[in-house]
Amino acid sequence: MPSASPIPMVDLRSHFAPLRESILQGIGQILDQASFILGEQGRALESRVSTLSGTAHGIGCASGTDALMLALRALEIGPGDEVIVPSFTFIATAEAVRYVGATPVFVDVDPRYYTLTPEGVEAAMTSRTRAIIPVHLYGLPAPMDDLMALAQEKGLLVVEDCAQAIGATIGDRPVGSFGQLGCFSFFPSKNLGGAGDGGMVVTSSGDLAERLRGLRNHGSWKTYHHDVLGYNSRLDEIQALILCRLLPQIQEYTAGRQRAAALYDAALGDLDLVLPPRREGYGHVFHQYTLQIRDRDRLRVALQAAGIASAIYYPIPGHRQRAFADLPPASCPISDFLSGNVLSLPMFPELREEQVEHIASVIRQHLAV
Ligand SMILES: Cc1ncc(COP(=O)(O)O)c(C=O)c1O
Repeated sequence: MPSASPIPMVDLRSHFAPLRESILQGIGQILDQASFILGEQGRALESRVSTLSGTAHGIGCASGTDALMLALRALEIGPGDEVIVPSFTFIATAEAVRYVGATPVFVDVDPRYYTLTPEGVEAAMTSRTRAIIPVHLYGLPAPMDDLMALAQEKGLLVVEDCAQAIGATIGDRPVGSFGQLGCFSFFPSKNLGGAGDGGMVVTSSGDLAERLRGLRNHGSWKTYHHDVLGYNSRLDEIQALILCRLLPQIQEYTAGRQRAAALYDAALGDLDLVLPPRREGYGHVFHQYTLQIRDRDRLRVALQAAGIASAIYYPIPGHRQRAFADLPPASCPISDFLSGNVLSLPMFPELREEQVEHIASVIRQHLAV
């Protein structure tokens, strides 16, 4: 039963359409002013994202991956240090650790919530462990209260990977405000996604913020004085302008995602599959709507035949990636299991009820066979 029109994973054209004129007018102004790097749009975005994430400072940079790398550099993590990361995440979490010369230590995730657990972290600690990077995977926060308590007790630093979770909360506290530093991605498909790459580090520490401002700009705090080896990792003004135009609607976008998730839950709840987890007191922003489902790969073919996109986030856990084959082997059976069984369905704020129903009916039919 093919749908009238295909259903993509994200619908960025619909997302940008209402803002098209306003964005073009803003880009025109930037061209007129010819101020392209580290200007007023970037500063406005930094201020708004830091406020949204309950922190005092935001430092824009070129990507979410760079945000993680800059955060680790700001904490002076480097060769000889170990950093604990979940195995079930996007590769950038571990890549950033390698970029600063430290060693990622892959730890398995909670089978219920797909996030790090304090027990998992504690079991993986050695005398070299300096930091942990909890990932708020799919938009559901990691258990930051417990992880911060452990980090404090053991003297570990905490960098939150908030790439998939802008606006997510525990109680009324936003992600990004728990660790020493929080890292966001503005990759186009993210909950706040631009028209290109971009990222931001947030922190309540004035010292760390100052360090980050120099690190992202060639290690320079004063023009042409380079005190440390830094990076060219700045967020340009056109990207910052686009993100500033999107940001006032972030709550509406999140509500659209949550509404779509509730529709999916209602339409799929009686089937033989595992729905995305919810957690009491946790504000989930549904970057992804991800099921555990048997016969996943054949289901994907059926969905595709019906014009419905789907995706696997992530088919190979970090500890099995060839890029990390030189590390000591890690045992992460839950990450292995999830990689073989998860399936993400279309998820974006504009997803309509009849689209969700159509997707659910294809899944229902497939499971009935
Ligand atoms: C969990 C996670 N961490 C880090 C990143 C890296 O962000 P970026 O693509 O902006 O470098 C992403 C997104 O791609 C991500 O999903």
